[in-house]
Amino acid sequence: MTVRVPAKVNLQLSVGPLRDDGYHDLVTVFHAVSLYDEVTVRPADRTSVQVTGRDAVSVPAGRANLAARAARALAASLRRRGRSAVQIEIRKRIPVAAGLAGGSADAAATLVACNDLWGAGLSPAELRDVAAGVGSDVPFALLGGTAVGQGRGERLTAALAAGTYHWVLAFAAAGLSTPEVYAACDRLRAAGGAAKGAANGTGPALSTELMAALRSGDPAAVGPLLSNDLQPAAVSLRPDLRRALAAGREFGALGAIVSGSGPTCAFLAANAGHARDLAVSLTGAGVCRGVVRVKGPAGGAAVVAAEPE
Ligand code: C5P
Repeated sequence: MTVRVPAKVNLQLSVGPLRDDGYHDLVTVFHAVSLYDEVTVRPADRTSVQVTGRDAVSVPAGRANLAARAARALAASLRRRGRSAVQIEIRKRIPVAAGLAGGSADAAATLVACNDLWGAGLSPAELRDVAAGVGSDVPFALLGGTAVGQGRGERLTAALAAGTYHWVLAFAAAGLSTPEVYAACDRLRAAGGAAKGAANGTGPALSTELMAALRSGDPAAVGPLLSNDLQPAAVSLRPDLRRALAAGREFGALGAIVSGSGPTCAFLAANAGHARDLAVSLTGAGVCRGVVRVKGPAGGAAVVAAEPE
């Protein structure tokens, strides 16, 4: 059973104060983009994970792998005792620790694949519940499209968004750890006063301007409204990102942001031709390890092939 699953960028990422459980309350707008990993699962005697493709060596192997955890979480929720081991093969194109939710994507793909392979017949909503226990971004990788995430990011509402958006993603040489970026965000806020939204007792709020711009389908309206509260933290850990963001703006990107916890930078283009020009200019400027052009919104995790019995 093979499942294709997209990467995501966050069009808005508003981070509330640190909660007692170690997470932050979020309001985020997820947007799936056409950069995909593929995950194949097969019945096996014991669960294993093999990774090929981009950054394969830096994907955690064995029990620590998020895809393996997803398979176990699904088996546990189905009270499936025997016959729950699977060989998981991940063909990676989404870079690792990049702020693109690649690990979460692989976990979501594994849930869809195992649900099918085992004939479990869980509904999308039931699968989303299992996904939320595996990681904050996993439910969105199941859903795809453009959606508002609340809570840890796992409570989703599909967003009304018109049109297609053309992006250039600029990859950095090395990844960033999500918990470290959140911790840096807390430190910066502690040094600079109260957390945004915490001072007056309100949590983070969805940008109604951004939602209206998305409904209009106009990238020129969306670009200036992109926002990411984790960006100062990511830039503090990787000062080079400032150069990449500035270069993108200079080359006419309609919006330039760090994606999620970074270090990937996402640049919004006016159209496909503009995205091509932007990709060439960013490559020439030498501000990143590589670039890729993608379109959003992309569909969520979906079966692409079933192997004959
Ligand atoms: O849920 P997930 O395991 O993907 O989260 C990874 C880490 O990111 C958490 O351990 C936490 O440090 C941080 N995080 C957070 N607030 C969120 C989501 C993630 O602090 N809403």
